[in-house]
Amino acid sequence: MTAEIVVLPTQQAVAEALADRTAAALRAALEQKNRVTLCLTGGSTPVPAYRRLAEAEAIEWDRVHVFWGDERCVPPDHDESNYAMAARTLLGPAGVPETNVHKMPGACPQAEGAAVYEQALEQFFGDDLWFDVLHLGMGDDGHTASLFPGTDALSVTDRRVTPGLAPPSAAVRERLTLTFPTLQRAGLCLMAVAGAAKRDAFSDVLDAYDGEAEGPPAARVRVEGDLIWLVDHDLAQGLADENDD
Ligand code: 6PG
Repeated sequence: MTAEIVVLPTQQAVAEALADRTAAALRAALEQKNRVTLCLTGGSTPVPAYRRLAEAEAIEWDRVHVFWGDERCVPPDHDESNYAMAARTLLGPAGVPETNVHKMPGACPQAEGAAVYEQALEQFFGDDLWFDVLHLGMGDDGHTASLFPGTDALSVTDRRVTPGLAPPSAAVRERLTLTFPTLQRAGLCLMAVAGAAKRDAFSDVLDAYDGEAEGPPAARVRVEGDLIWLVDHDLAQGLADENDD
């Protein structure tokens, strides 16, 4: 796997690149396959990207199936729900058919929710789980999806979905998250990260890439396809070569 780092001037440019690269990848996949899969992330960074993606040209959303990399253990209409954010910004505006939306069961008790989504992935993919496009973000502690530093979820390799636990500072601590082996099954992983508050975590990621340390969970993501970091200048200033997108 190679990890490419694209440094963009602003957080808005990161959102535009996330949307535009996703649209291009979905269109390319739709030319090759009858149905394609998109795995969304949560948080605030993707919000403008998802609004832009909803307006993208020539995406046959009736052939795109949507999944999530993680979810907070709250009902789907809760302010903290990753599904609710996507429904508001992308799924509704783009007209993604309900039958194509495979949300994580955040309203279930955590262990039950993990088992339910495990079953849902099994039912849809069988043994051949594959995300044509995977979105991930990173927190200022270096977590990605809901794989938080120092938690049991980091070492789960025999399941596709597992309970995650956010730190006490998080609005919602109990989470559901895909595991590292599951995230690996992606053709294109776009990691959209912006803001100076995450600079230390991003520096730790770069050190991990240089083999100097294990690094935070975000540094441990490996995919079978391409992994591209879309970062803004505030995050990468002085850390990574600037280049144009
Ligand atoms: C979540 C996300 C999480 C997110 C990071 C960054 O459920 O919160 O999946 O991994 O990507 O926490 O969030 P921001 O984009 O809000 O900084």
